[in-house]
Amino acid sequence: MNPAALINDAKLLSDILNKYQNSVILCDQNTEKLCLPLLNINPETPIISIPAGETNKSAFSLNFIWNKLLEANADRNTVLINIGGGVITDLGGLAASTYNRGIKFIHIPTTLMGMIDAANGGKTGINFNGLKNYIGTFSEPEAIYIRPEFLKTLPFYQIQSGFSEMLKHGLIADKKYFEQLISLDLKVETAEFINWNSLIEKSIEIKNAIVSKDFKESDERKLLNFGHTIGHALESHFINSNLPHGHFVLAGMICETFLSHTVGNLDLAESQKIIFSIDSIFERIPLLAVDIDEIAHLALKDKKNNAHKIKCIFLDKTGKASFDNTITLKDVVESLSFYNS
Ligand SMILES: NC(=O)c1ccc[n+]([C@@H]2O[C@H](COP(=O)([O-])OP(=O)(O)OC[C@H]3O[C@@H](n4cnc5c(N)ncnc54)[C@H](O)[C@@H]3O)[C@@H](O)[C@H]2O)c1
Ligand SMILES: [Zn+2]
Repeated sequence: MNPAALINDAKLLSDILNKYQNSVILCDQNTEKLCLPLLNINPETPIISIPAGETNKSAFSLNFIWNKLLEANADRNTVLINIGGGVITDLGGLAASTYNRGIKFIHIPTTLMGMIDAANGGKTGINFNGLKNYIGTFSEPEAIYIRPEFLKTLPFYQIQSGFSEMLKHGLIADKKYFEQLISLDLKVETAEFINWNSLIEKSIEIKNAIVSKDFKESDERKLLNFGHTIGHALESHFINSNLPHGHFVLAGMICETFLSHTVGNLDLAESQKIIFSIDSIFERIPLLAVDIDEIAHLALKDKKNNAHKIKCIFLDKTGKASFDNTITLKDVVESLSFYNS
């Protein structure tokens, strides 16, 4: 696994990138405008730019990128440099790992979500037929370069989105880290004063420790899906909303913490404390009865399920989780009703 390198020196990063003679850049319209100019990349490097947003993590965009790579005469010696959030690193990783049976790629994550999660761990993907990340590969980038500087232009609700996955890292693997994150009292007015460097490093360390034991997600890596069984179902249901991924994960973590107590072994007081902590930082997403029914059925379609059983990650306590717990459609409905209460 290629560990991410945190680089605070702008010149050092542009020197590293300009060493790649034969490269193509992939970005979205926002990162092209806000991030690319800060990297001082050779102006002759071909740029592929796509519209921003989750709906563009699609087969249409993948086809578009393959065509642009062909136009740029990309071959096995070409390196695709993905500059953006999780949409760009997931999509660019998939485009590169399939074009010409696989060319090299580098991730430069520009969102908190990308830095602490999406760019690490070697999963690539697109959404397909309304289902999250249904098509993809396990393929590792040549390198991951993280520049926390990029967070300065990131809207606060996107910071919250990345923060949700950091909370997840604490909840599944490190109680002290969870408590440290909660004590930051993340607000729009405090976010810019947070020293993100050490937090980013801690989250990557937790994720990499899990992924290095189980790259293809046969067992332990499933722990990283805490909050995602129900979170992905919510995200698929609201696929055309502008809410970012992490906000659905937060909702999913509330539901799955509830189930960790009602179906699993998590102590009631501890489950309430966790839910209270999450609620103190983020607002809940209002749901209608009809949403709940459809979301529960979408949870059944999650690609990580076997036959008709829904598999879920439970917290056993704060900082420790277990995988392959079975829940029913009724459990999902109850957790969503609790969330909505
Ligand atoms: N592969 C994995 O292991 C993994 C893990 C977590 C999430 N993901 C995926 O990542 C995606 C979510 O990633 P995301 O939250 O980064 O979303 P995103 O890539 O859509 O970025 C969010 C928004 O921020 C903009 N943006 C990016 N950098 C910016 C900057 N520095 N300043 C201002 N605006 C900026 C983007 O243009 C976009 O509008 C989801 O598709 C999710 O499934 C993948
Ligand atoms: Zn996630």
